[in-house]
Amino acid sequence: MEDPRANGERSHDNNNNHLSKKQKLSSKFISDSEIHQEFAHHQLGISRINNGSFGSCPASIIAAQKRWQLRFLQQPDDFFFNHLQKGILRSRTLIKSLINADHVDEVSIVDNATTAAAIVLQHVGWAFAEGRFEKGDAVVMLHCAFQAVKKSIEAYVTRAGGSVIVVQLPFPVHSEQEIIAEFRKGLAKGKAHGRKVRLAIIDHITSMPCVVIPVRELVQICREEGVEKVFVDAAHAIGSVHVDVKQIGADFYVSNLHKWFFCPPSVAFLYCRKSSPDPDLHHPVVSHEYGNGLAIESAWIGTRDYSSQLVVPEVLDFISRFEGGIVGIRDRNHEAVVKMGEMLANAWETHLGSPPHMCPSMAMVGLPSSLRVLSDEDASRLRTHLRNRFGVEVPIHYQAPKDGNDSDRVTGYVRISHQVYNTVDDYLRLRDAINLLLEEGVTCQSLHKDK
Ligand SMILES: Cc1ncc(COP(=O)(O)O)c(C=O)c1O
Repeated sequence: MEDPRANGERSHDNNNNHLSKKQKLSSKFISDSEIHQEFAHHQLGISRINNGSFGSCPASIIAAQKRWQLRFLQQPDDFFFNHLQKGILRSRTLIKSLINADHVDEVSIVDNATTAAAIVLQHVGWAFAEGRFEKGDAVVMLHCAFQAVKKSIEAYVTRAGGSVIVVQLPFPVHSEQEIIAEFRKGLAKGKAHGRKVRLAIIDHITSMPCVVIPVRELVQICREEGVEKVFVDAAHAIGSVHVDVKQIGADFYVSNLHKWFFCPPSVAFLYCRKSSPDPDLHHPVVSHEYGNGLAIESAWIGTRDYSSQLVVPEVLDFISRFEGGIVGIRDRNHEAVVKMGEMLANAWETHLGSPPHMCPSMAMVGLPSSLRVLSDEDASRLRTHLRNRFGVEVPIHYQAPKDGNDSDRVTGYVRISHQVYNTVDDYLRLRDAINLLLEEGVTCQSLHKDK
């Protein structure tokens, strides 16, 4: 199986591969100290190894955003009538090329992945309400779908009479084949009662635990099995794995630009494949543009700050300062996070939660079982303790053992991220913090008692 991070393409698709050796040698690229300056607003003393949750935005982009905000505040009417829509179209056009979409009309800019999920699931809810779907028709999701997306399914699908098929994925995971087999099984089980599957929601990179999903293969299975529409929740994808929406072949595909693509919060693109029959999608915030197509509707949802949607050209300029552009950034992040993950796993005598090629710019690393992470609450207490006592910001996952026996098993994992601003010291601090807790005989249960 090929590397799913590449999604069928290799690292030669970067926007700097035309650079001659001579240019590279002259080191036109951003230096370490310039990177440091770009992220100097990060709170000092914190090892921020959680880019995955909220992303990060460099100083030059914050400055660009401020310029856009000022342009609006200086002459709002001129900005509204003459510049805003042009600016958003420019961003959509750049995104269209980045993701290999056919038409700019296929690309809408929305706030975030949560909004995109609401757009797609609201559409499913209407189909139930208007009698196009029958009660009991199903939506498929992975058991580790993002919590907010699960709530959206509850609000728009379950409430309207739809049923939900949950596909359990294995973790730790050893190969794409394990995921593909479970997906096939889950889908077959869901269809066994004669239910029509109206929508599958597949993560490109699951949030917790974090794994790159063989999304192209799962979309293909959905097509073979007659699933009507496929929505890929790729909140983490752009900037951390290769994204080619045509190759992936889903009907809808969302990725945040504020996680791994250096945009300020909050901005995401929602791709809607044009060749799918009229999707009749609408933004949940209805305004003047209702009925003019999702991309146009989304570009005006009332008076608000649109600056995060307008800085995409400046973000591409920032990215072009790095050798290899976004491909270079994501490949180096991937290599570094795997290296740091292996260093931690060796130090703690544990393992990674997935093979390296199934890690994006994040990796799951097993925690020593003697810390006794035995519940979600334990995981969250340990996370808080690492932040408050050691200045380490890292999410922690509790993985219930399959057969209930957790005595010697790894049941806790840290999800480490690597972005351009991280240094080895960030991960050493995490390693040493955990080692100190072990030396002190701390368990998650004793942290509870301390509270
Ligand atoms: C898989 C997945 N979907 C959706 C989201 C929601 O993203 P946002 O909060 O930007 O809407 C996240 C956030 O981490 C995520 O990991």
